[in-house]
Amino acid sequence: MKATATRPFDARTDATLAKLDAAGQYKHLQMLQGPMDASVTIRKADGSSHRALCFCSNNYLGLANHPEVIDAGIEGLKKYGAGTASVRFICGTFEPHERLEQTIADYMGTESSYTFVSCWTANEALYPTFAEPGDLILSDELNHACIIDGIRLAHSIKKCARKVYKHSDLADLRSKLESAHDLGLDKDGPNPGQIWVITDGVFSMEGDIADLRGLRKLCDEFGAMLVVDDSHGHGVMGKTGRGTHEHFGMLPGGSDGQVDFFTGTLGKALGGGAGGFIAGPKRGSELIVQRGRPTLFSNALPVTVACSATKAIEILMREPQRVQTLRDNTAYARQQITAAGFEVIDSPTAICPIIVGDTARAIAMSKRLLELGVFVIGFGFPVVPEGAARLRVQLSAAHTRAHIDELVGALKKL
Ligand SMILES: Cc1ncc(COP(=O)(O)O)c(C=O)c1O
Repeated sequence: MKATATRPFDARTDATLAKLDAAGQYKHLQMLQGPMDASVTIRKADGSSHRALCFCSNNYLGLANHPEVIDAGIEGLKKYGAGTASVRFICGTFEPHERLEQTIADYMGTESSYTFVSCWTANEALYPTFAEPGDLILSDELNHACIIDGIRLAHSIKKCARKVYKHSDLADLRSKLESAHDLGLDKDGPNPGQIWVITDGVFSMEGDIADLRGLRKLCDEFGAMLVVDDSHGHGVMGKTGRGTHEHFGMLPGGSDGQVDFFTGTLGKALGGGAGGFIAGPKRGSELIVQRGRPTLFSNALPVTVACSATKAIEILMREPQRVQTLRDNTAYARQQITAAGFEVIDSPTAICPIIVGDTARAIAMSKRLLELGVFVIGFGFPVVPEGAARLRVQLSAAHTRAHIDELVGALKKL
């Protein structure tokens, strides 16, 4: 059927796209002609290729193109085929899924884990499944979009209350916890609702981290459950790269308490393919199997990805020195970028946002950097607030000092 611009959707979509283009905010997808690594091959408009250093991937440990990770995926594909062509509770689960979930639990220091096709799906499964009417969900204002949407879903399906607390502001969170009874939550009554406090471990646009110890203390005071999405913390935070909880000494056996549930991704440091998980007590995983809509009505993570991700976590546990290399690279890059006269948000993570203000400016700078052989993405509204556009530089253990020097050289030319 021929597309016409007379129906409401067609007309308004054309107008939106034209507006984005006119404002210099139109996103163009780059076509890669080879694997993700410290540098990538990008297809140019004329069909030729050019090589660029990659500083915008979440390939923090350089495992996305690791030979063992690739081989594990190939072996999985050969042995199990593409998939079960159904959901897990109907058609069964491949053994690599069981192995991956045990590996994730061991890595995170939790009793169990359950995997999904993405961390987005894990967050969409967790809140609507775990929350019940009468519960209250408190969420950091800079939480990732999939946490926000998962909470919206819980609010709409389970009719639980939700509130947003100011970014990393424990005093604001306390006041919201104190006023929980105003929302109908009576923790001492006959049907006490559950309070949930939800935060990113590492905030993806700022690169800063949540004060998990402070959050744990507050949660304990108010009987709240603490849920942490540590998608950018895996492979990055803590001595052995287990995440932000390791950074704060909150692995099992630590004296500062633990996180109740985690969500995380396998699509960044832990192999870089795709996939997400919920990790925590076994009763949570069991409830997800019984009641989670994405687990009851959607297929499992492809088995080849499950095999690659298991291998990636094994490599991380075997070679914790990768985490130190990443840390050294990040410290060096921060120091060099700052010395070149740019304003970089300080943090202990591998995300170095260079604040440039205007969205169109961030996009133009990113375009110029690519011409100079450096791939860094500019983020603007609506991904970050209006006026706070930035170039988000992300480091990897795969980078060398020479790569970082080249990045800084290109930044100086802007
Ligand atoms: C904090 C956070 N959570 C979840 C996700 C989504 O992960 P996935 O790609 O596995 O859906 C991202 C991805 O950008 C993220 O930054």
